[in-house]
Amino acid sequence: MQPTIVLYKKVPEDVLAMLQARFSVVQFDGVNGDNRAAFVAALANAEGLIGASLKIDAGILDAAPHLKAISTISVGTDQFDVDDLTRREIVLLNTPDVLTQTTADTGFALILATARRVVELADYVRAGQWTGSIGEACFGTDVQGKTLGIIGMGRIGGAIARRAACGFGMRVLYTNRTPNVAAEQAYGAQFTALDALLRTSDFVCITVPLTPQTEGMIGARELAKMPPRAILVNISRGTIIDESALITALENGQLRGAGLDVFEREPLSPDSPLLRMKNVVALPHIGSATHETRHAMAVCAAQNLIDAMEGESSGNMVNPKR
Ligand code: DGY
Repeated sequence: MQPTIVLYKKVPEDVLAMLQARFSVVQFDGVNGDNRAAFVAALANAEGLIGASLKIDAGILDAAPHLKAISTISVGTDQFDVDDLTRREIVLLNTPDVLTQTTADTGFALILATARRVVELADYVRAGQWTGSIGEACFGTDVQGKTLGIIGMGRIGGAIARRAACGFGMRVLYTNRTPNVAAEQAYGAQFTALDALLRTSDFVCITVPLTPQTEGMIGARELAKMPPRAILVNISRGTIIDESALITALENGQLRGAGLDVFEREPLSPDSPLLRMKNVVALPHIGSATHETRHAMAVCAAQNLIDAMEGESSGNMVNPKR
């Protein structure tokens, strides 16, 4: 008999076929208040779990006594308590690498869009306000030649550094738990203390993963260190920034603008003051959201689960190695 797995996010047909060839698949197209009880009931026999965008808490895990592996269709693992999974001897796998370049593109799109006021000025044209030759009121600020501070020099941070240094001749500063020698050699990136990075960067881009250590790391104190010419970009997780402190800083003109793909609460409320600010570009968490990359992530996650269930050691295991 094939092992049972629960799939809790819609995946492309070919990826579903990969899973169905090996497992008995119980499918949910997302989990919400209406189908949560059925989802939890389906876990009683499940040996594998695959999906994304759902907090997998102790209550869910208690309902899944046979679970051996969870494969998340994401690089972020903040929906899981990895220590608890490790204690329960459940392997967690994620999808790094395949989304690195696309997510870096999103970060750079936000840098360019905020600096050159792309969304605001496209709205101005659409509203029929472009009635003559534009003047200073429509000017933005240069990206090329400026200083970019990257908070978190992992895979995505490195891909942003490459775009900045090689494409835009930018000076790159970074913070990280440990120095990233490869980024220093390839892109001239300089390992810098957070306060100094905030004080001297024209653009600050957050790529660090959400952990108890990074949650709330950019609050009023940190925002106050940024110069009024600076732009803050976040493509990681919303709760790394204290969002109300950011709103206050933007309202007070402490920052030039912000490019945000992620928010404290998603979806962002239409009432958010951020949406009333012309110098804020807000995206609906699209970091890796291209057809090609989302397909590659689903394939990667399916293969991760297959390998783990077949006892193969996957390079994408998140639990600490023993
Ligand atoms: C990721 O892969 O972690 C993306 O942010 C989607 O959540």
